[in-house]
Amino acid sequence: MNEKKIALITGANKGIGFETARQLGQQGVKILLGARDREKGERAAEELRREKIDASAIVLDANNPASIQNAAKEVEQQYGRLDILINNAGIMLDDETKKASEQSLETWRRTFDTNVFGLIATTQAFLPLLRKSPAGRIVNLSSILGSITLHSTPGSPIYESKNYASYNVSKSAVNAYTVQLAYELKDSPIKVNAAHPGWVKTDMGGQGASMELEDGAKTSVTLATLGADGPNGAYIHMGETLPW
Ligand SMILES: NC(=O)c1ccc[n+]([C@@H]2O[C@H](COP(=O)([O-])OP(=O)(O)OC[C@H]3O[C@@H](n4cnc5c(N)ncnc54)[C@H](OP(=O)(O)O)[C@@H]3O)[C@@H](O)[C@H]2O)c1
Repeated sequence: MNEKKIALITGANKGIGFETARQLGQQGVKILLGARDREKGERAAEELRREKIDASAIVLDANNPASIQNAAKEVEQQYGRLDILINNAGIMLDDETKKASEQSLETWRRTFDTNVFGLIATTQAFLPLLRKSPAGRIVNLSSILGSITLHSTPGSPIYESKNYASYNVSKSAVNAYTVQLAYELKDSPIKVNAAHPGWVKTDMGGQGASMELEDGAKTSVTLATLGADGPNGAYIHMGETLPW
């Protein structure tokens, strides 16, 4: 394909999404920078354009079906296809002082609305456009905290990390959805994978996180640019496969 690849990254006005947009843009990919707040999106896209990256902002609120549909319509009208969808938007609302049984139902619902249902709705809306790409790639931002295997293994690095129950379980659901969708798409050119970016210095990860933003975007970028021989339905962190 001689044309530029087109990538949509949700929740890209800051954090890992923004850095992913920057790194993909540096590779010559046309960036559609998804943001639920138009102004924040425009500001972020402008910052990338100052770095000579081909970036435009697009409003996409993962909690708002109409906003997702409008975004898909806009991409269809302007480009007629999408090559890369990175479902990056995510929230962590849990009260760290509470155990799994104590997090409010409201927290569970809001977390699942964005991290799971928003991701599924966005994928459904853009799948027809990804099918028009010769090599569609979907990257779902999961977390190592979504690994049921590691959560249930005493001594694993996350065994004691149970203070974010609704977030953890939402990412397990993202993993499970990734496996279901990968099966559906296995005979198509589209690949769908789950990414654990690492514990990254962002508003969500906090400044005590172990990874810099630049490295935190690398897993998403790699999965977004996989060749035809790359994995489908895998759960990856920096080239390593994680246990589901
Ligand atoms: N940081 C880590 O250590 C870490 C580790 C594992 C996985 N992750 C995952 O990586 C992804 C990015 O995390 P991050 O650390 O970069 O977080 P962040 O700095 O908090 O950024 C989150 C982004 O998601 C957007 N967002 C939230 N709700 C949204 C919605 N309903 N619709 C559209 N956008 C929405 C935010 O927009 P606003 O600016 O408008 O709020 C923001 O752009 C998340 O899925 C997260 O779960 C992060």
